[in-house]
Amino acid sequence: KSPVPREKSLDSTLSLIKEGFNYIPSRREQLGSDIFETRLVGKKAVCMAGEESAAIFYDENKFKRKGAIPKPVMKSLLGEGGVHEQDDEAHRQRKRMHLSMMTPERLEDMRRIAIKHLDKKVCQWEKEERVNLFEEMVEIFTRAGCEWAGVPLKEKEVKQRSREVLDMIDSFGGSPARFRQGAKARSKQEKWLTGIIKEIRAGKFVPPSYTPACIIAHHREPNGKRLDPQVAAVDLSNTFRPLVATAYFMVFGAVAMHEYPQVHQKLKEDTDGYSKMFAQEVRRFYPFAPAMAAKVKQDFLWNDYKFKKNTLVILDLFGTNRHPDSWEQPNQFIPERFKNWKESPFSFVPQGGGNHYMGHRCAGEWMTVMVMTAFFHYLTNYITFDVPDQDLSYDMSRMPTLPKSGFEMTNIRKLKEPS
Ligand code: HEM
Repeated sequence: KSPVPREKSLDSTLSLIKEGFNYIPSRREQLGSDIFETRLVGKKAVCMAGEESAAIFYDENKFKRKGAIPKPVMKSLLGEGGVHEQDDEAHRQRKRMHLSMMTPERLEDMRRIAIKHLDKKVCQWEKEERVNLFEEMVEIFTRAGCEWAGVPLKEKEVKQRSREVLDMIDSFGGSPARFRQGAKARSKQEKWLTGIIKEIRAGKFVPPSYTPACIIAHHREPNGKRLDPQVAAVDLSNTFRPLVATAYFMVFGAVAMHEYPQVHQKLKEDTDGYSKMFAQEVRRFYPFAPAMAAKVKQDFLWNDYKFKKNTLVILDLFGTNRHPDSWEQPNQFIPERFKNWKESPFSFVPQGGGNHYMGHRCAGEWMTVMVMTAFFHYLTNYITFDVPDQDLSYDMSRMPTLPKSGFEMTNIRKLKEPS
């Protein structure tokens, strides 16, 4: 008898789409197991959660990425040929390229650029009656991401490009219509970015040598060849599109500030690195990336269960961040839990797990935490605002999800200039 329970269903793809963030956690509870078999898109799949499961999921000898992520997600959210779907040496080479952009100096550049764009917006917000934080964050991060990446963004393009990035991100757990919209947005962005890569290669546009645009345009694969222009466009998009996803966490953080006044007060005082602990707890507690997919590389045995070559395996990221074996009171919002947190690469996985350098863990995690920390500090210490009545509830069956109102603010006043 298999030590792993099986979900009794002919195919669970529709349940997954319908139940969203709740799908894997509720099956784990029903079946009394952190790992279970099911059928997704007509094939056997294994779903799992928790620190131990994450540790095997991120073992490169056991799992590969090629062909694991469903086509609609590749065509809308991630793009084809980029770092996400590479394995082994090809992956390591591409990952080195991404991490070479994340030096402390470049992270500091991003902090400065992002705060500059936020501060500029705040001067406009002061004149407005009502501001929608989500919409504003999407635009701020698009502007900041493009500037940091060395991607020229004309003022008249800002609305269109930020809309496209948002459509790509918003598509990932969606209906066919949302996937189509995401794929349409992606093809427009890839066309735009392919043009930029070609101009750089032809010497018609020369971005600074430390920017992603320049690094990716001139990057060479292990075979000595430059990246195909479209693949270069996909990886260039991977250097600023995901920053825009931080807009979701910013809105959830604003909700937390509003719903937990004592937390808001501590953020204002911001001693002992509180704003960073707050940013970490926002990433742990609120739903954004639900799960990751990989395929078994070679047959292997784990806890008496046989993983067969090419089986699709899904790791529940959201459920792992709230797993009771790793987190006390996992369903409570407690930033202080990160005070003396013994870092584990497998229990806290809002942006993937394992090793940043060798594995698939998010290349932009340091940047995300840094920008969130700086923005939460700014929102609590540099401005004041009111939160009018609005619907802040969010739907856990939608992926990605967001408080319904997007977080509206009124009476915004700037208190001081950022240093
Ligand atoms: C990979 C989430 C921000 C660049 C990933 C993965 C997740 C993720 C779940 C996949 C991990 C895996 O394959 O196992 C997020 C979230 C973000 C964010 C939730 C913020 C809200 C960023 C930023 C950047 C970035 C700001 C770059 C500026 C990347 C890259 C990869 C990646 C290049 C591919 C890494 C690889 O396959 O080796 N991210 N990310 N991400 N992320 Fe992020």
